[in-house]
Amino acid sequence: MQKGEELYRGKAKTVFFTDDPNLLILEFRNDTSAFDGEKIEQLERKGEVNNKFNHFIMQQLESAGVKTQVENLVSDTESLVKKLKMIPVECVVRNYAAGSLCRRLGVEEGKILNPPTFEFFLKNDALHDPMVNESHIVGFEWATQAQIDEMKTLSFKVNEVLSPLFAKGGMLLVDFKLEFGTDSQGNIVLGDEFTPDGCRLWDSETKKKLDKDRFRQGLGSVVESYIEVASRIGLDL
Ligand code: TMP
Repeated sequence: MQKGEELYRGKAKTVFFTDDPNLLILEFRNDTSAFDGEKIEQLERKGEVNNKFNHFIMQQLESAGVKTQVENLVSDTESLVKKLKMIPVECVVRNYAAGSLCRRLGVEEGKILNPPTFEFFLKNDALHDPMVNESHIVGFEWATQAQIDEMKTLSFKVNEVLSPLFAKGGMLLVDFKLEFGTDSQGNIVLGDEFTPDGCRLWDSETKKKLDKDRFRQGLGSVVESYIEVASRIGLDL
């Protein structure tokens, strides 16, 4: 597989063409961003850790019947992925209240949400990823109602697969964000990444934060925590 020119550079990952028009290379960089790009730092080894973490999680999801973009690892920091047409919304599932939900609704951090909640956000840093509803998504033609229904179903399925996986490692999957796209046949496929950059994970007993909130809140030991999470779910990095 020949790596081609850069297609897109995001805040933490870069996408490259390959010599196969249906495949891209996703490079996980050490850049770590929070608050819609307001805070950016380089964290040593984070690219490698997230690339391998993402590959491991996507494999678990594939085994459970969730179609993902990931084909295989091509280097420490790069993965080969299917080219998707990305849908510009973020799908957030929450099992416990945290982050923007607490700020928006004034609820206490850690309140259990049973059943889990689901929210859509528009992917737009300049507008700070505003929350949108299904009628906005259909009305502005970001996705069809059928695609919305499938993204929701798949997001809850991911929750059902990953919550027990993290629970076995003594962690609570507090919330997470997914992004989907369509493949060349129009199927909805899970894209982007699943790493501690895009979810919240707390130690089940102590409630210690083991995810990107360590970076957002300046708690330190960010990559070390990601490595600990990986090791607790059986991935030694
Ligand atoms: P929030 O509490 O800030 O709305 O975030 C909910 C979850 O989604 C949290 O695990 C972080 C993740 N997330 C991202 O990874 N990127 C984003 O742009 C947003 C809005 C959320």
